[in-house]
Amino acid sequence: MQIKDFFQYVGKEVTVKGWVANKRSGKTLVFIILRDGSGFIQCVVNKETIGELMFNEADRLTMESAIELKGIVIADERQSGGFELQVSDMKIISIAEDYPISKKVHGVDFLADNRHLWLRSKRQWAIMRIRNRIIFSIHNFFQGEGFVQMDAPIFTGNACEGTSDLFETIYFDRPAYLTQSGQLYGEAMAMAQGRIYTFGPTFRAEKSRTRRHLSEFWMIEPEMAFFDNDQNMDLIERMIVFIVNETLEHCKSEFEIIERDTAPLKKATAKFPRITYDEAVAIIRGERDVNGVNAIASLEKELESALEDIESIRKEIKDKENEIKMPGIKKGARNFKQNILDTLKNEIKELEENARNIPQWIESAKNFKHGGDLGGSDETVLTRLFDTPVMVYNWPHRIKAFYMKRDSANPELAKGVDVLAPEGYGEIVGGGERETDKELLVKKIEEHKLPMKEFEWYLDLRRYGAVPHAGFGLGLERLVAWICKLQHVRETIPFPRWYGRLFP
Ligand code: 4AD
Ligand code: MG
Repeated sequence: MQIKDFFQYVGKEVTVKGWVANKRSGKTLVFIILRDGSGFIQCVVNKETIGELMFNEADRLTMESAIELKGIVIADERQSGGFELQVSDMKIISIAEDYPISKKVHGVDFLADNRHLWLRSKRQWAIMRIRNRIIFSIHNFFQGEGFVQMDAPIFTGNACEGTSDLFETIYFDRPAYLTQSGQLYGEAMAMAQGRIYTFGPTFRAEKSRTRRHLSEFWMIEPEMAFFDNDQNMDLIERMIVFIVNETLEHCKSEFEIIERDTAPLKKATAKFPRITYDEAVAIIRGERDVNGVNAIASLEKELESALEDIESIRKEIKDKENEIKMPGIKKGARNFKQNILDTLKNEIKELEENARNIPQWIESAKNFKHGGDLGGSDETVLTRLFDTPVMVYNWPHRIKAFYMKRDSANPELAKGVDVLAPEGYGEIVGGGERETDKELLVKKIEEHKLPMKEFEWYLDLRRYGAVPHAGFGLGLERLVAWICKLQHVRETIPFPRWYGRLFP
């Protein structure tokens, strides 16, 4: 029997196998938080009902020991999940050694080194469930729209997204690269199937240690024959709204566990604004307002109020610290004040981070040079003005990939689109219309110094029945990070690979 089904067994006896996620002992009662993979439940072991011998065994259980419990399911609203198990029998499956992960706060490297165990923590468990639902809803969305899923190769002989961040490997007796994107193969398949999507691992050797970059990540790349970039943007919007709504509907308890406020997510399903690159630049530089709000001025105001808040919270923290130290203070009162103190310390941490970041954001936003790519902080400055994801289209062709369609009305522009998520998350989707003109494509391949021989098959797609087509790439981990509101993409994937990390 699984914990997730216990709501059907209230008042009845069940048997369940799982691990001790936590334990609290009293004189006559032991409280075990049991996890079985499907959920968590508090189990009460009562000395009177279970007998001294077994009670002592329960009392000695270590974290992550595996046990089998028999007991009656009780509805209890105070418990997370709403149920409790009153234990009548227990069998030990295995006793765990001293478990390295405890309730205390661990450092980033420690947790990363123990990822194989960290995955068991309630928060990580919930994030992986949300990731799973997101994956499921992506397949649902595309299958529902009649797309055919295809798998692109992982070993490739060419670069799709620029040559600077390729992972090189040996393929029999020649060099090969791990794919950066399945797009080029997706284009070929779209000419066979009309509408396709890939869902697979992609690799980038970028030496960036940011909260958005992984060296191995999963990308969803749809490609549609006879689509222009407007239709492409319609599809992106429909897809993101669908995924967000699915998670809102099916991941309520997981969002509660990770304390994700879902109000901003609900707001994010409204119509997405579409702005050109030129407009985006003007907004970032503070030359153009959005709904009466100026990006730079609002940041300056926020900085000012953050500094004021920091000062007053610092005072409060000092006061509380003194009160706690007062002689004769009762334990209850001290705990109460300690709780307030912890909350204040968390609040101030966030404010201090803002106070550190905002001046840099303002600096780089004011000095943004037209023609350049948007950096992480520029994306933040822009997206803070919106509740929904923002689509930025019509990019300078010079900073975009070789395959991107030039705008015949303005040859300086390429018909690309980046989708930037709100709440500071930035780019989650990159895509656009593809160049169909073979001569222009050949010129671009030369300009980008790519080996023409490796692209002959790709040029065939322009030789035989070339049609307008478009597509995009959705970064799964970036999407999960935004939907779960995580600090870093490394928590979005079971075993993350980022610059330098190959363990576990
Ligand atoms: O913008 P990118 O580089 O676009 C492409 O690869 C196109 N071939 C896609 C297409 O049109 N079919 O990457 C697409 C998305 C980004 O928007 C981002 O969400 C994610 O992939 N991404 C990364 N995610 C995590 N770590 C990285 N290092 C990423 N690089 C890109
Ligand atoms: Mg991109």
